[in-house]
Amino acid sequence: MSDNLKTTLQDLESIKETVDSKLNEVKSASEVEELRINYLGRKGEITQYFKQLGKVAPEERPKLGQALNELKSYVQGKIEHAKGAFDGESETEEYVDLTLPGAVQDIGYRNPLLQVLYEIKDIFANMGFNIETGPLVETDYYNFEALNVPADHPSRDLQDTFYLENDLLLRPHTSPVQIRTMEKQKPPVRIIAPGRCFRKDTPDASHSPEFHQVEGLVVDKDISLAQLKGTLLAFARKLFGPGMQIRFRPSFFPFTEPSAEYDFSCVICKGKGCRTCKYSGWLEISGAGMVDPAVFGFVNYDPEEYTGFAWGMGVERIAMMKYQIDDIRHFYENDMRFLTQF
Ligand code: DAH
Repeated sequence: MSDNLKTTLQDLESIKETVDSKLNEVKSASEVEELRINYLGRKGEITQYFKQLGKVAPEERPKLGQALNELKSYVQGKIEHAKGAFDGESETEEYVDLTLPGAVQDIGYRNPLLQVLYEIKDIFANMGFNIETGPLVETDYYNFEALNVPADHPSRDLQDTFYLENDLLLRPHTSPVQIRTMEKQKPPVRIIAPGRCFRKDTPDASHSPEFHQVEGLVVDKDISLAQLKGTLLAFARKLFGPGMQIRFRPSFFPFTEPSAEYDFSCVICKGKGCRTCKYSGWLEISGAGMVDPAVFGFVNYDPEEYTGFAWGMGVERIAMMKYQIDDIRHFYENDMRFLTQF
């Protein structure tokens, strides 16, 4: 055996030892992979020896070849084994532990006021009503004049309505949407108009300068007060349950004749009388009535041909009844302790 071959074989032996000791220290599958590349990769140390094989004297080739093959399969085996030890905690491969509990997404909460508003819209939409909207900044014409509200009517008072420049104002009710709707379409009309309103009220448990109403309007041939009552009763029963009753009390609004205030039977005591309804069995909701023919005059509807009914509805009030909330300000404070209850 030539000296050359001897040293080469010794070199191979020391490679084996180095690989062994390095493998004792690896801490991850990627470190094992690095080792594999350094020794067995295309430019790896062991691979280089294979490439030199052709330059070795022919009689010594078999011996060296055998030694190299042994080393290669030894190192390969060791590396496979070391990789296996990191199975399940590999950083290079994606690993999913199916037994872990899922990550719960913290989703937002819908304000109970909006929940009730959506419910109201759904109920009327299912009854065949279309949904109309109008601007929050209104003109005096739509908000008062075309609704037959006289110049000296108390609702025109500076103390109630937020006036802006140029005859503009923040709408104090959703009734102007009645006019805007009738202006752009001929009967039959069957709409609700939900939306925000504003009044110069000092906030307290039952007042907020910003609040929500749902206006309703139906115009067609032969529309009657009985249909108005039937519509509101059907609504009350869909929202609060089949035991609900409603009642009308005579009242006055400039845009309806006759006019009424309507009440729902108390949702707490079911009409028997309790503190919430002040022992009357009834809770006031809002106003309603038959559309005043004078209003039809502003939108060129023929009052001889058509009749109609209209009503208002305070969304906060209904939501407070539904969820037994005792202070209107809760809706606007964004207190998570309140919001997460619904
Ligand atoms: N707009 C009235 C208010 O804000 C409510 C109302 C009463 C609306 C009678 C109507 C109605 O459509 O017919 O107090």
